[in-house]
Amino acid sequence: MNLTGAAVMTMFRVSLSAIMAMLLLSLASCRTKEKTEAENQSSVTHGRYLAVIGGCNDCHSAGYAQAEGKTDENGWLTGDRLGWNGPWGTTYPMNLRLLVSRITEEQWVRTIKNVKARPPMPWYALREMSDTDFRDLYRYIRYLGPAGVESPAFVPPPEVPAGPVVRYPR
Ligand code: HEC
Repeated sequence: MNLTGAAVMTMFRVSLSAIMAMLLLSLASCRTKEKTEAENQSSVTHGRYLAVIGGCNDCHSAGYAQAEGKTDENGWLTGDRLGWNGPWGTTYPMNLRLLVSRITEEQWVRTIKNVKARPPMPWYALREMSDTDFRDLYRYIRYLGPAGVESPAFVPPPEVPAGPVVRYPR
């Protein structure tokens, strides 16, 4: 093939602009990725804040309330074997780390929005939370990752389990 200097230059320009376009595109996708990562990071930070001030740790993290909040974050929200006993029976704060690892963010938002659990779970307080708060909580719990074991199952009244329980007046 016989290429003239002009044709070579044109091809060179075409491929140069193709390379430039590709570079710009990958730069843009890098930016988007950075932005999503930054957004996710601020979700995680806010989710952690909600878990702390929303009191979730007080019941769903073993030993947390007794240690005035000074327990290893790696164990947070893994549920508790300490039961809550009252006229409703005996309930155990669920392992939220395992729950979140099983469901999608959408499922979590739907579940938690309509949740109506037995005492002393303050489900009515969760009705005041926004969807963004639910998502942030999910992202924080998801960030912590699955850990621990399932909490004991609900024990209906009048049975009182042999393990440790906090007893409400009857
Ligand atoms: C005073 C203790 C207490 C606090 C505070 C608390 N929980 Fe709970 N939570 C429980 C108990 C006990 C259960 C199990 C209730 C049952 O068996 O019906 C539970 C159950 C749940 C469930 C499972 C509901 C279901 O039946 O599907 C979710 C989700 C949950 N809690 C989320 C949270 C979040 C998020 C917070 C913080 C905003 C929180 N909890 C604060 C005690 C508590």
